[in-house]
Amino acid sequence: MGILTHCVLLFLFQHLTSAYDFKEGLDNGQYAFVKDPSLNIEKRSADVELFQFDSESSEHIRSRRSADQGDCKSLQGFDTKLTNNTHTYSFNDLSGSVSLAWVGDATGVILALTTFQVPFFMLRFAQSKLYRSENYGKSFQDVTNLINNTFIRTEFGIAIGPENSGKVILTGDVSGSLGSRIFISRDFGNSFEQQDLPFNPLMQITYNPRDANVLLVIGNTNELWLSEDFGENWRKIHDMVCLLKWGMDSNIFFTTSLNGSCNDRGMLDLRRTTDYGKTIKTVATKIFSFGLGGKFLFASVMTGTGILRRIHVSTNQGEEWNMAQLPPVGHEEFYSILAANEDMVFMHVDEPGDTGYGTIYVSDDRGTVYSKSLERHLYTTTGGDTDFTNVTSLRGVFITSILAEDGSVQSVVSFDQGGEWVPLQKPANTKCDSTAKDPDKCSLHIHAAYSTAMKLNVPMLPLSEPNAVGLIMAHGSVGDAISVMKPDVFVSDDGGYTWLQALEGPHHYAILDSGGLLVAVEHSAQLIKDIKFSTDEGQCWHVHQFTSDPIHFTGLAVEPGARSMNVSVWGYRDSLLSQYWVSVTVDFRELLTRTCEDQDYVQWLAHSDDISDPNDGCMLGYKEKLLRLRKASVCWNGRDYEVNKQPTPCLCTLDDFLCDFGYYRKENSSECVEQPDLKGHLLEFCLQGKEELLQTRGYRKIPGDKCEGGTQPERKEIDLSKRCVSDLLGPQELLMDGHLSSSAPIIVTVLIIVLLAIIAGVLIVKKYVCGGRFLVHSYSVLQQHAEAQGLDEPLDSNHIQARNMADFHDDSDEDLLE
Ligand SMILES: *[C@@H]1O[C@H](CO)[C@@H](O)[C@H](O)[C@H]1NC(C)=O
Ligand SMILES: *[C@@H]1O[C@H](CO)[C@@H](O)[C@H](O)[C@H]1NC(C)=O
Ligand SMILES: *[C@@H]1O[C@H](CO)[C@@H](O)[C@H](O)[C@H]1NC(C)=O
Ligand SMILES: *[C@@H]1O[C@H](CO)[C@@H](O)[C@H](O)[C@H]1NC(C)=O
Ligand SMILES: *[C@@H]1O[C@H](CO)[C@@H](O)[C@H](O)[C@H]1NC(C)=O
Ligand SMILES: *[C@@H]1O[C@H](CO)[C@@H](O)[C@H](O)[C@H]1NC(C)=O
Repeated sequence: MGILTHCVLLFLFQHLTSAYDFKEGLDNGQYAFVKDPSLNIEKRSADVELFQFDSESSEHIRSRRSADQGDCKSLQGFDTKLTNNTHTYSFNDLSGSVSLAWVGDATGVILALTTFQVPFFMLRFAQSKLYRSENYGKSFQDVTNLINNTFIRTEFGIAIGPENSGKVILTGDVSGSLGSRIFISRDFGNSFEQQDLPFNPLMQITYNPRDANVLLVIGNTNELWLSEDFGENWRKIHDMVCLLKWGMDSNIFFTTSLNGSCNDRGMLDLRRTTDYGKTIKTVATKIFSFGLGGKFLFASVMTGTGILRRIHVSTNQGEEWNMAQLPPVGHEEFYSILAANEDMVFMHVDEPGDTGYGTIYVSDDRGTVYSKSLERHLYTTTGGDTDFTNVTSLRGVFITSILAEDGSVQSVVSFDQGGEWVPLQKPANTKCDSTAKDPDKCSLHIHAAYSTAMKLNVPMLPLSEPNAVGLIMAHGSVGDAISVMKPDVFVSDDGGYTWLQALEGPHHYAILDSGGLLVAVEHSAQLIKDIKFSTDEGQCWHVHQFTSDPIHFTGLAVEPGARSMNVSVWGYRDSLLSQYWVSVTVDFRELLTRTCEDQDYVQWLAHSDDISDPNDGCMLGYKEKLLRLRKASVCWNGRDYEVNKQPTPCLCTLDDFLCDFGYYRKENSSECVEQPDLKGHLLEFCLQGKEELLQTRGYRKIPGDKCEGGTQPERKEIDLSKRCVSDLLGPQELLMDGHLSSSAPIIVTVLIIVLLAIIAGVLIVKKYVCGGRFLVHSYSVLQQHAEAQGLDEPLDSNHIQARNMADFHDDSDEDLLE
């Protein structure tokens, strides 16, 4: 609880600059509403009539039969109940944009900041107004006096403290001053204190996630500033800081340039302080960029003389590093952490050349050994857009897009944490569109960040919430590839296995009451007066007219965490000369009068498709029975609703294991077989600077897999008490070590996984296929060779690596046998 307590809604989704590796898919997104209809609506004209729906009569719009649900029934008398609980607030404000921020969890406090800017010759006229609500947006108070006529920045202007701290920082611009001004609040925005800063923040002020009194920010000349008393006193702790991140346990990580320029990528130092800057330690050098994800610290480190860089991983805050067994990338390419947790990481490695795609790798529990998970994964370099989505409502489910050979974009889903990717099932109540060759056989394609970046008419990204079990709402189309035509809204109630077309045309949508209630408002160029809602996970939709005076709709605002019952429809109305903001808040509490009781819930086995199979529902070694709200139950889960999970371990099968170092899986087989070239060889590898001897039957457990008993292949790692080079961070003493010479560091073995089996069109990679074969070679020799050839143009790395690997294969074996 409490992690989702803060959220700033701004209009623009701000991407991290594409110049960095490790573009983390974290919620850096900010949304605001702006009035310009051209920004909200990309496509009109021809389709316009299709935007309309028969609101007058349609108590239900669409129905689907399911186990506990017949046809849609109309809800009795909801209209009067809702009308009595609809609250309209008009802002006496002509500003062009509004940003919303929730302060605290279940406090109902919302700050609304409107900003208005006009360039006026050399000067700029800019004005901010601040409003505050204490009742989930039903009414607001103009509290602009609290910010003393200061212009609050539109970008990173509002910083909400972690957890339920109630802390708020507003960052202002003071014209004609070197410093800037912040307003800080400790009481959920009820009162603010003004504070002048000796510098101008270059970024959002960040809170220590563990102690909201400690603030950190980079100033306009790249100096790092820290405050331990919530903004009253600031201390400069470092100069020339390029990138900054809070790590675990109040650790601060940052890169710094010795050369005085953050453009000097690849020559940066990665530093860490554990005591708020009193002592600072350099934990890695020759850094291009770094990132944090789950328990892992990643850094891309330049190789040798080079143009290439490689990922290094640390699981102990930078004390020790290991080279990740991932392909190196050149200047034009990037790495990206798509998702990471305590067990593993999904890493995207960009393909050389401007292809717009790359490969997803999934890591082991140490973050060093990787298996290829998905090829041709769409991730444009220019905008840095990927559709990769962690479906948070069901364990192990991820959705993303691939760029097919024919240039089309197609969605794929994995139900087992990247082991296997398959197309999404076609919703039963749909027909294939014109992109389909066979009108009866096609799949569902989901619009996510890439479509938004391409300015398709997709107002929202896919939505799922951990407390709304199995639910996914998303825009999509049904065919052989994603369609650029007007998308519809699809809903899945089982974590993405099956889908239903729920609403026609694009909508804004939200999940309320832990999934007990879904709401949607049509996204259209027309004036809007209706909100749609569903109490049965999107099968039947009802329409409530929230106003008699339709508004230009800009977006929905719901308290983060999906536990609320209040939803605000934001928009604006035209008056004689101008436009003013309106927020209409509907409280659905009266609609769901009853609190849910035991009989309103049914047992549900996640990931289940065949109940007769004893292994049915097993995912990563365990199955989970959950209690879910019956679709037919119209009742209130309540704010304190917790998903009740009952995990039971499964017996281990070979599918719970990855193929180990030196082994691979044949197509359609669970068995790992020894790489012929390595048969009979001792497998040695280098970890944390120590050589290990691996005794294996070819299997290692999938990270996070909790299976018990069953098949348990043997595996042992024996420390050979020899030293070796497991990173390129160049600790001098290693190079002095007896049997290693700096010119020929050997023994480091790198495993490049070459996947052979690609099924035409859609990629289906077998469960943790370790693919075709493992090639073991001496890393350093390969690298020097490649760089000696001066391969500085974007190179087709697969090609060149394959060749080099062949060249050096013999050497490597010798090294291994040494
Ligand atoms: C509407 O709300 C008022 C109080 O806010 C209440 O007195 C009245 O009975 C409600 N009407 C209906 C139809 O629920
Ligand atoms: C507003 O600004 C004036 C002048 O800088 C200052 O004296 C006053 O304390 C400020 N008021 C608030 C509420 O911050
Ligand atoms: C700064 O970087 C440039 C280019 O990378 C290099 O030529 C120069 O020697 C560096 N200067 C210092 C002081 O390290
Ligand atoms: C995906 O999201 C779930 C729910 O928030 C989280 O528990 C899990 O760790 C995430 N997975 C990854 C790989 O980030
Ligand atoms: C909806 O808003 C009211 C205040 O207007 C609040 O009392 C109530 O708790 C909110 N409902 C939920 C479920 O958050
Ligand atoms: C693997 O299975 C797929 C689908 O079941 C089949 O089309 C393919 O021929 C199989 N490959 C082998 C080598 O058996």
